[in-house]
Amino acid sequence: MADHLTQGPIEGQTSPVSPDASLAPATFLPKQMPSPELSFPGGINPAVRALVEDLPEPLRTAVIAALNTPGGVRITMGNAKGGVMKTTLSVYIALILSLTGEPVLLVDADDTNKTCLKWQAAAGEDWPASITVVGYSGPAMAKQVTDLMARGFKHLIIDVGPTDKGVLKTAWMLTKRGIVPTQQHVGDIVQLTTTFNLLKEMGEPIDLSVMLAKSFPKRSSYGNAREYILGLINGQSSDHPNGLPTVGLLDATVPLLEGIAETWGSIPDEFGHFSTVLAETLGVPSSVIAEREAAWQKMTEEQL
Ligand SMILES: Nc1ncnc2c1ncn2[C@@H]1O[C@H](COP(=O)(O)OP(=O)(O)OP(=O)(O)O)[C@@H](O)[C@H]1O
Ligand SMILES: [Mg+2]
Repeated sequence: MADHLTQGPIEGQTSPVSPDASLAPATFLPKQMPSPELSFPGGINPAVRALVEDLPEPLRTAVIAALNTPGGVRITMGNAKGGVMKTTLSVYIALILSLTGEPVLLVDADDTNKTCLKWQAAAGEDWPASITVVGYSGPAMAKQVTDLMARGFKHLIIDVGPTDKGVLKTAWMLTKRGIVPTQQHVGDIVQLTTTFNLLKEMGEPIDLSVMLAKSFPKRSSYGNAREYILGLINGQSSDHPNGLPTVGLLDATVPLLEGIAETWGSIPDEFGHFSTVLAETLGVPSSVIAEREAAWQKMTEEQL
């Protein structure tokens, strides 16, 4: 299925982009995302600062970017397609945010599967006290989340199920920002149009970052999927002839790894790919993330 993408333009794509993936820009961000400060904010609790300083890269960069995000981090994980890592991303990113020492609200807005709630229950006492998980509460969700955030939560992650489009729009209204995880298979990426059509129904701009999830970065279908998505963003598809000015495609990806699936229901001890996704979503350029990671690795090797 994945390699169907190598066989030429896909329905809906009127002007195919260059067949040479190396000619395509590594990152295309039509929106001008301001890069957050990457130094510790003044007034940070010294104990939290010491813990964050000790974190490996790119986790440290992601946590510092979160600490410097005005008003806290608010992200909806949503895509009209199922099984694309929405819940896994929600839990991992909520766990990364808890390292700021600030309270995190994780909304399980997938009333059918309730997977975040099940993950929290399975983790038992290992679940961090600073992350509160609440279930979807029907049409009252917007008010419930707004009221809870006013009670002192700093960060907000909403995990939306694949079927309820109204819930996805409500979640986007609450966070104004989203990650759209998608697999690189043609059957998955053509469904992005359903999600982007919902975006066009929103009355205000919502920043969306598309992320290739459970990916195989070395396969040609990976580069083809990126080109297809950039074509959608750039208005080269009859589905979105005016382009998608508030949508970007992350360089960061989370590969298909059995080890990640096996962390379900527990608290993972490795956040590498997820940290890169969070830092880039918050506006840290991927080159800066890579430089900081390389410098940290060099320093760690020198200390051995
Ligand atoms: N990077 C990965 N590599 C391998 N398996 C993964 C990865 N990420 C998630 N999985 C597994 O893929 C399955 C689907 O992931 P997840 O539940 O996060 O997707 P979802 O988009 O929330 O699905 P749904 O639409 O059903 O809510 C799960 O079994 C999960 O453990
Ligand atoms: Mg889910």
